[in-house]
Amino acid sequence: MSAASGKVEGAEQGVAGPCWRPDSWRDKSSAHQPAYDDAHALAAALAALSVLPPLVTSGEVDHLRDLFADAQSSRRFILQGGECAETFADCVPSVITNRLKVLLQMSLILEHGLGKPVVRVGRFAGQYAKPRTVETETIGGETLPVYRGDLVNGAEFTARARRPDPRRLLDGHAHSAMTLNFVRGLVDGGFADLHHPEYWNLDWVSHSPLASEYRRRVDAIGESVRFVEARAGRQLEAFNRVDFFTSHEALVLHAEAAQTRTVPRKSGWYNLSTHFPWIGMRTTALDGGHMEYCRGLRNPVGMKIGPSATPAWLREACGILNPANEAGKLVLITRLGTHAIDRLLPALIDAVKDLSVLWIVDPMHGNTEVTPEGYKTRPFEAIVSEVEQAFAIHARAGSVLGGVHLELTGEDVTECTGGARQLSGTDLARAYHSTVDPRLNYEQAVELALRIVSLAARTVRPTAG
Ligand code: PEP
Ligand code: CO
Repeated sequence: MSAASGKVEGAEQGVAGPCWRPDSWRDKSSAHQPAYDDAHALAAALAALSVLPPLVTSGEVDHLRDLFADAQSSRRFILQGGECAETFADCVPSVITNRLKVLLQMSLILEHGLGKPVVRVGRFAGQYAKPRTVETETIGGETLPVYRGDLVNGAEFTARARRPDPRRLLDGHAHSAMTLNFVRGLVDGGFADLHHPEYWNLDWVSHSPLASEYRRRVDAIGESVRFVEARAGRQLEAFNRVDFFTSHEALVLHAEAAQTRTVPRKSGWYNLSTHFPWIGMRTTALDGGHMEYCRGLRNPVGMKIGPSATPAWLREACGILNPANEAGKLVLITRLGTHAIDRLLPALIDAVKDLSVLWIVDPMHGNTEVTPEGYKTRPFEAIVSEVEQAFAIHARAGSVLGGVHLELTGEDVTECTGGARQLSGTDLARAYHSTVDPRLNYEQAVELALRIVSLAARTVRPTAG
């Protein structure tokens, strides 16, 4: 890629399909792109971004594709979770550590309860851009551009903060790198050591109604580790560390394209800003820029599927994003809502049953409500119910639900109602911090993992291997 122009020289044909280049999306219309008003500043930021070291490697990306292929055939389960909108201000050790802890705790419960390895994919280290349903926001008679995530503009309601600033593309790369660097250090440095699951305990365990169930599982895992190692006659490295991957919505195509590279001795193009980019529900037009950009990547690519999806659209979208019908390449993330999933999902599964896809469920985005006090929230029972229905519908269709996609945080926020503590609409004001969508707090997230294990046991046949 030529850094200054963002244009690609000698784009390969055959691997990504005819006429694809990292910037061929520019020939299409792309929804939800920032309106930058300074073309020179944008070109300078993209030029700088395109020569910075990547955040992930092509080997890791290829590995994740293989793990997704396993999940497709029920040999692994995917736990994708993290922030709705990550912020630069939250790039601090405690927030990152707590988020990682909650994902590790959930994965431990899932691994033990489902009896298969769990692939952990963070919705962070790059989840800085948001599609918005409206272009502007009006407060006290003043109208300003809407906040589109820290990658684009600032959340503060001032004209200065809300102006899309291309330098934020570089800040996004830096904050992703700092986050990922810390996560890699924690994961490799024994933080995920199964010999010490007590390291992961958060304060809540001592007072949660679910404490005894959580402790029972942790004790059982400790016993299993001791038993296996006693048989092996040594400590097993597999119990000392875990794999960890990142994902984000591939929304601001300028930034994604500037981090899309070829690598020596491999064919094809990799987005090296993340292992797993996904296309949001609002940018899945078949002839749009996001489809065009993502179809050329070697990364596994996700696609959100909302209630307006039709079976014919889905089939065509799968053909565009995974023309070679490769296993582990395409992840279909349904977010249909607890009231619609039963009506809509069976026909979607049927439309692509001969194609190679990984199905996972996002039970968050189809279940958003607004309280009388004006808070966006999601009832915990609606989230559980959508997951439960997804397991049952896939099992009935002879298909596989290979994972979940969640918005959660390791902090003690009050954004979703319900859960073991029965948070009500009036509790939300206590600690509502999300800049966009309501997240599960750590206690609700761990409770959800425990519930998923019992739902899966009721609906899914155990698999060998
Ligand atoms: C999101 O994942 O935060 C999001 C906006 O989801 P969707 O594209 O499914 O609406
Ligand atoms: Co969201």
